Amino acid sequence: MDTRIDWDEHHGPAARGGARAHGHEHGHAHDAVVDAAEDAELAGFLAGLDASPAAAIDLGCGTGATAVALARHGIVTTGFDGSEPALEHARERARAAGVEVEWVRGDVLDLPFADASFDLALDRGCLHHVAATDQPCYAAQVARVLRPGGTFLVRECNQPGHAAPAATEDSIRSMVAGTALELRRVVRRRLDDRRYALLAALVRL
Ligand SMILES: C[S@@+](CC[C@H](N)C(=O)[O-])C[C@H]1O[C@@H](n2cnc3c(N)ncnc32)[C@H](O)[C@@H]1O
Repeated sequence: MDTRIDWDEHHGPAARGGARAHGHEHGHAHDAVVDAAEDAELAGFLAGLDASPAAAIDLGCGTGATAVALARHGIVTTGFDGSEPALEHARERARAAGVEVEWVRGDVLDLPFADASFDLALDRGCLHHVAATDQPCYAAQVARVLRPGGTFLVRECNQPGHAAPAATEDSIRSMVAGTALELRRVVRRRLDDRRYALLAALVRL
């Protein structure tokens, strides 16, 4: 898979008008709003876990909203993305928030971390960038870097003009078939009159 993602083309200022239309806010004027929403969503999710994760990775972290929110919860956090411009925004966000995050650039299909490095892996909006044929490889990588009992949380929204989220329960089941990841819970939530979020919680067996 080509990982030379032109982040600014897809998510940066030039794309921002379109990006706003389907709910991806990356502008600094909106950071406080994004961060507050991230914190509320994450707090609810983390409260539902048996134990608080010690180490987490935000896969396809973009400008780092989720990673910074994780770090605010006291979790040792790695933000991982293929795009250097996105990571530059993320570093700035972490500095402004006064939290430490390790930012790493790379491809989610070849995670440069030791086995069992994390208790929690999150993917907010990265999965739909991974071709269906590459998704089993992605799932195997996530399973490898998660500790047994660790959690993989996937959050995908529907794209403009599409009624359903880019990922579905079936596509996630296909992705993890044959890996040590097991799908435990799927929630499809309406965000507004046009948008849905699909939240899937998986456990590393
Ligand atoms: C829609 S953005 C979501 C960003 C962030 N998670 C958020 O919710 O704001 C998708 C991100 O995934 C990253 N990405 C896509 N494919 C990737 C890959 N194969 N390896 C690493 N990052 C990837 C892109 O660079 C982009 O920052």
